[in-house]
Order: sequence, then structure tokens, then C-alpha cells
Amino acid sequence: MLSLCGLLPYPSPAGGRGEFFDFIQEHVLFIPFTPFEDFVMSKLFDSVHVGRYTLQNRLVMAPMVRSRAQFDGTPDELAAEYYSQRASVGLIIAEGTQPSDDGQGYLGTSGIYTDAHVVGWKKVADAVHARGGHIFIQLMHTGRRSHPDNTPHHRQSVAPSAIAAETKVFTPKGEQNTPEPRALSTEEVRQTVQDYRNAARRAIEAGADGVEIHGANGYLVHQFFAPSANTRTDEYGGSIENRARFAIEVATAIADEIGADRTGIRLSPGTPLPDIDEGVDGPDMFRYLVTELDKLGLAYVHIMHHGNDTLLADIRNLWKRALILNRPGRPREQIGMDVASGLADLESYGQMVLANPDFVERLKVNAPMNAPDYSTYFGGGARGYTDYPALNEVERG
Ligand SMILES: Cc1cc2nc3c(=O)[nH]c(=O)nc-3n(C[C@H](O)[C@H](O)[C@H](O)COP(=O)(O)O)c2cc1C
Repeated sequence: MLSLCGLLPYPSPAGGRGEFFDFIQEHVLFIPFTPFEDFVMSKLFDSVHVGRYTLQNRLVMAPMVRSRAQFDGTPDELAAEYYSQRASVGLIIAEGTQPSDDGQGYLGTSGIYTDAHVVGWKKVADAVHARGGHIFIQLMHTGRRSHPDNTPHHRQSVAPSAIAAETKVFTPKGEQNTPEPRALSTEEVRQTVQDYRNAARRAIEAGADGVEIHGANGYLVHQFFAPSANTRTDEYGGSIENRARFAIEVATAIADEIGADRTGIRLSPGTPLPDIDEGVDGPDMFRYLVTELDKLGLAYVHIMHHGNDTLLADIRNLWKRALILNRPGRPREQIGMDVASGLADLESYGQMVLANPDFVERLKVNAPMNAPDYSTYFGGGARGYTDYPALNEVERG
């Protein structure tokens, strides 16, 4: 059977799909686009400026921890293969990666603060670049969503306040409750900002194109936003301005270190986590935060949308640069709609990219997607990581 590989790259759908398209239509499982779908999809394949880069399309791989790093947090060759397989998305945002020992919450996550980490990430970045892709590393400090059994120093976790997260975490001894963290002193908060700055510098040293600050999903930055996790009485707690201060200081420090045009941030207003309550003024805090971040000139804001459409529209108006939108569980038939409507400049996808190394190519020809295997999301080796077949491999049987 003919390998489809030799027929890549595919022409843009707007200009006719060519030989590859015809082959797929004839031999594989192609469902023709309607004219409306054609219009919606074609915009996704336009190039787009994000920060200092021109990306080949508007599709983004959402950050996903896969817990396959070496014991010291260094990503290995398999990670390089995994990300390079997915390099045809416009931007890869690599897995949540700790900026320090304190920042680790889970087993097997990557770090970006030692020489070994830089060596490991360099292999990843080089492999992605060799296939024409762009990669940002997500800086994830888990704060209180951690356990001493999972960190290199085995110390009590740190957080805005000494309030335990209402969650369990997988440890070498099995699943355990996340214990009460220690509240960072004001001086330690400032030091933590420097940890992010250092990690961003190391990411660039490793050849990454930039970093994304993880300000979502109940981790450290988000803990500062939420009165349910932050009862501080210094300048990092209380008012909207104070709760947003840590995120702004982290963004400012990173932008100063590596350039605002290589710095992005992810936010998830209204995250449905039992222990994260952003308060009645939560939406206003996000409006204030986005306004302040916009002044820094960051490359992008990446919103994981949880349903407050008014707030999302406001963020779109307040934010003058690239907006990446993630709608968890977005059905296949809605892909492209936020870019087509102008609500977003780019759309990010997690699980579909995880399970489809050739996600972009499959979208272009409206081919079916591989289903993800949940059992291999976290930990393990190549299975469920680098062995999802691309269309050409399906064809080869
Ligand atoms: C295995 C897995 C790991 C994830 N790890 C992260 C992470 O490190 N950082 C983050 O911001 N979101 C993380 N997420 C959330 C995804 O980025 C994404 O927002 C989510 O999967 C919803 O999008 P989707 O429906 O397109 O998958 C993770 C999701 C999955 C499935």
C-alpha cells in the first residue's frame, strides 16, 4: 500500500487539497467538508504572529504532564520523539515543568532549573525545530498541590497560606491526601519569583522558543488568585490588586529575563475545583490582571475556558495580542469556530493531539482521529506516548 508520507506537505484546503486529499478521499475514511466547515477550517491553517514568532498555523498543543521524565526531572529521548512527532501544530506548549525543587508536585514531572534539565530539554527543542515546529515550556509550580514524598528535598509544600488543598496526590506509597502547606514569607514569595525567572532563562538556554506561566488549574499562581487558598495580609493577599500581584511579578521578571515576546501565560477563570474559589470579585480580578499583563506586552494569553462567556469576551477586548483558547472537551465539529469568529487567534487541543501525532494533517483532510488511551496518560514508556499511529502508518496497516 502506498505510503502517504511522501505526499506531504498538503496544500491549504482553501486552495484545493491536491494529490494527498484525492488519495485520502479514495482510499481512507474521508467525510467531505461542507462549504461552511471548509471556511471555518481554512482559517486555522493560516500562519499567525505570536510574540517574536510566525507560526505555521493556529493550532496549539495544550500543555500536558505525561510523568515520563527521568528521576531527576530530566526529559529523555522519548520526550524528544513525542514532541517532534507533533511538531506540525503551530505551537507546542510542553508539559507543566517545575521551576524549582519546591515547585514539584507529582512524580515523574520534568524540571527546568539544573544543567541536566537543560541538556534534556535541548534534545526536545532541537528535535521539534528540526521538524519546523515551535515549542514553549510551561512553568508549573504546584504550590500546595504536592506531597513531601514527591519532591527531591521531601520538605513540606509551600503556598500562599497554610490551607490544605482538597485533593489527593499519587506518591510512591500510593494515593495520599495533600498535606497542609507552609505559608511562604513575603521574602520567600519574592525568591519564588526569582525561581521562575531562573527557570525561564534555563528554558531559553535549552533552546525553547519561550515559556508559558501556568496560572491555571489550582496551582501556585492560581492559589494566589483565590481567597479560598490565599488569606495573606501582606501585599500578596486581600484586594484584587494584591492577589494578582504574584502573577504580574512573575510575568514581569520573566519578560525582563527572556523578553515579553517569548512569554505567555495560561489562566482558567472559574476553574471547577472544590478548593479554588476565586471569590465574587474573581471575574474583576481577571479583568484587572489581563489589563496589567497586556501592558507588559506578553506574547499571548492562553485561556482554559470554563463557561463565563461575558468574562471571556471582556478578556478578548482587554487583551491586545494573541489569544489562545482551550475549551475542554470541545467536540470535533466545533474545531476552528473560535478562530473563525475572531474570539480567539489560536485554539489549543490537549487529548486529540496526545492521541494524534498528525492532528493537523488529519484535520486538513477530515480524517478520523485516534481515541486516547487514558490508562497511559501518566507514567510508563513509549506505549500511549510515541506509538499512536499517524495516517500513513494506519495505511501501512
Ligand atoms: C494527561 C493530561 C495532562 C495535563 N497536564 C496539564 C499541564 O501540565 N498543564 C496545564 O495547564 N494543563 C494540563 N492539562 C489540561 C490540558 O492542557 C487541556 O486544557 C485539557 O486536556 C482540556 O483540553 P482537551 O479537551 O483539548 O484535552 C492536562 C490534561 C491532560 C489530559
